[in-house]
Amino acid sequence: MEIKKVVVIGSGTMGSGIAAHLCNADVPVTLLDLKTEISEKARERIHKSRPPLLIDKSKINNIKVGNINEDFDTVKDADWIVEAVVERIDIKHDIYSKIFKNRKEGAIVSSNTSSIPIKVLSEKLTDNEKKDFCITHFFNPVRYMGLLEIVKNENNDLDKINSLKIFCEKELGKGAIVCNDTPGFLGNRIGVYAMQVAMTEAIKMKLSIEEADAVFGRPMGIPKTGVFGLYDLIGIDLMVDVLKSFKKELPETDDFQNVAKEIPLITKLINEGYTGRKGKGGFYRINKSNNDKVLEAINLDTEKYSSSKKIDLKMDTVDIVGLINRDDKYGKYSWSVISKIITYASSLVPGITDKFNDIDEAMRLGFNWAMGPFEMLNEIGPKNFFERLGQIKNNKFLENLSKSNEENFYGKRQLYTDIETLGKIKSYAMKIDKNKSANIYRFKDYNIVEFTTKANALDYNSMDCLKNATDKPLIIINESMQFSAGVNLSYTMDFVNKGDLKSVEKFIKYFQETCKHLKYSKFPVVSAPSGLTLGGGFEVLVQSNFVASHTNIVVGLVETMVGLVPAGGGCKEMLWRWSQSEESKKDPDFAPLKVFEIIGYGKTASSPIEAEPLKYLMPSDKKIMNRNSLFPTALKLINDNKNFIPDTECKFKLSGKPLKDKMIKLLEKLYNDNVILDHGMTVGSELANVLSGGDTSIDKTLSEDELYKLELDSFMRLIETKKTQDRINHTLTTGKPLIN
Ligand code: NAI
Repeated sequence: MEIKKVVVIGSGTMGSGIAAHLCNADVPVTLLDLKTEISEKARERIHKSRPPLLIDKSKINNIKVGNINEDFDTVKDADWIVEAVVERIDIKHDIYSKIFKNRKEGAIVSSNTSSIPIKVLSEKLTDNEKKDFCITHFFNPVRYMGLLEIVKNENNDLDKINSLKIFCEKELGKGAIVCNDTPGFLGNRIGVYAMQVAMTEAIKMKLSIEEADAVFGRPMGIPKTGVFGLYDLIGIDLMVDVLKSFKKELPETDDFQNVAKEIPLITKLINEGYTGRKGKGGFYRINKSNNDKVLEAINLDTEKYSSSKKIDLKMDTVDIVGLINRDDKYGKYSWSVISKIITYASSLVPGITDKFNDIDEAMRLGFNWAMGPFEMLNEIGPKNFFERLGQIKNNKFLENLSKSNEENFYGKRQLYTDIETLGKIKSYAMKIDKNKSANIYRFKDYNIVEFTTKANALDYNSMDCLKNATDKPLIIINESMQFSAGVNLSYTMDFVNKGDLKSVEKFIKYFQETCKHLKYSKFPVVSAPSGLTLGGGFEVLVQSNFVASHTNIVVGLVETMVGLVPAGGGCKEMLWRWSQSEESKKDPDFAPLKVFEIIGYGKTASSPIEAEPLKYLMPSDKKIMNRNSLFPTALKLINDNKNFIPDTECKFKLSGKPLKDKMIKLLEKLYNDNVILDHGMTVGSELANVLSGGDTSIDKTLSEDELYKLELDSFMRLIETKKTQDRINHTLTTGKPLIN
């Protein structure tokens, strides 16, 4: 069955997200609500959303809007009708009765419910209607969250469910996991339990909220919002509703009940309007006093706010074993939380799914965990786990595993998909090298480099792995949230703070050398980015021979924001790309001026559609909705280019001083208009120096090495300045740019 037209009913958070994502897949969609004004407002929200729900904002009007009274006829044409109205069974039942009266025979009807069992949702449907009814549980924000849980009922036409699954995988790019009809399905059942355990144990063990978030975060492979930060993000009041529904649906004996008890502080926060980020704040709040914004955290004992303290566990990578082995309160807390999550998740197999691997993948896709509970168990090692755990109670999975003495129980990953993903390949590829910042895998006759640092920030080690991996065709790819957020600024600042500028220069030179090596090595290099691909991350991409990009990419050269210029070949490559344009043939200053504007403003693009006009991505680059398909696409690029010959080196003709003067004039205007301040002038002038070619003239030819040298010299001059250092330190502590 083909899905050519979709109607989404309910235009709130989820309905609008689903409609936007169908629009991303170029599927005609109509969004209905009680009144057309409501769905129209939803469309406006989609248009303004940040991060953007739409890949291409100009397609906003492809989402048609209407109301359920006058426009219900649209349902007659739809191949799939998604219900995303409020979580009220009476309202949902009414809607189904209306839909099934109007839908065309065989059209699929699904609910986006997060908590109502399918047997309850479908209790008023006929057997024939049930054939085409299921739950499609998307996660918020729909464009960015990979997980889609599909729940069947006993009457389903399985071929149809399967074709829906394939559609959602191929066209919408989702990791679609079919699961049983149990409360919270997979992701929320484990994810919300994990949050509750992390919170209740933190209170019991008297950890501060910052400490708990530091542990239940990066070292555990969990996003840095941790638990209290995530509560604030989701909404503290919404979490209370979610817990109520779990408590109602789950038996008294379920361990969830023990961690879902009312917490007086939470009731107090909600009563006082502290419902999280959407309210006055929550566990954290921004206090605006004396024109200063201060991040504050609540003290769990005194229930008073004070300035939030940064907790440094000195663990920058995911390290479950290192964490639970720590001989301090963080070690104790993490073991307590991790062991409980593993015990709970395993106690639910096969009840919620007979494939434990699906639980892990749901946690990766729906909660952005770097590994799920069973992978954590695998990492700790069953023997070690059982020795520490002691007695196993009412847990068939763990009892069997313990009896089997099997240390390698895990088996294959990503069983939910037929795609040959990176996750699958990694389990049988050979890890041929690794250091603190990256791994090299060998698979068949090619190499894979996976960065492994926080936000995949790049340092000397990352470059070392890249360089060492060019003895075969190379794919640069990873499974974490970011391809690479750029050069590791703390690493760079450590040298600066010691006055060791020689080491900074050595690193940048090595960065340049590696990127050049990627570009001209004998074998093809493919970058397959998803998420942040900024600064140095973009410079790796742009000097790869081929690109297979996920549609959820944020790409750009943002160095000027921290008072630097791109120095890993970013200026050079952007100049080259723009100098190939028609306009550049007529005007040699066209390309440098264009690049001056793009890099000067630190422009970023949040999709390939936005990236192409800036030439951050090119039309020949592959653009892919399903992240799982990045790896097979990259592989195909290698296989299709068996006779690969690297390009010859680029040459540049730049105008030198007259062009630089033009750029300085532009800067002066911005300075006089107060758009930039003193250091903005300095940074802009250095950028102008690089992009105009330095001491050159239009009749001279510059080599790539000469441009690398210009980039390096400007970079070094800037990093020595106090104001660039202030910018970097500000960004490192606040995550925001400093204008100085
Ligand atoms: P919401 O409250 O943001 O939006 C619900 C929309 O339904 C509103 O625009 C409302 O006007 C409309 N509505 C109410 N009665 C209607 C009717 N009879 N006909 C047409 N429209 C009607 O709710 P949200 O958050 O979008 O949730 C929708 C569904 O998705 C719920 O079942 C919820 O459990 C589920 N869900 C929510 C998630 C979330 O993060 N918010 C995540 C996953 C699932």
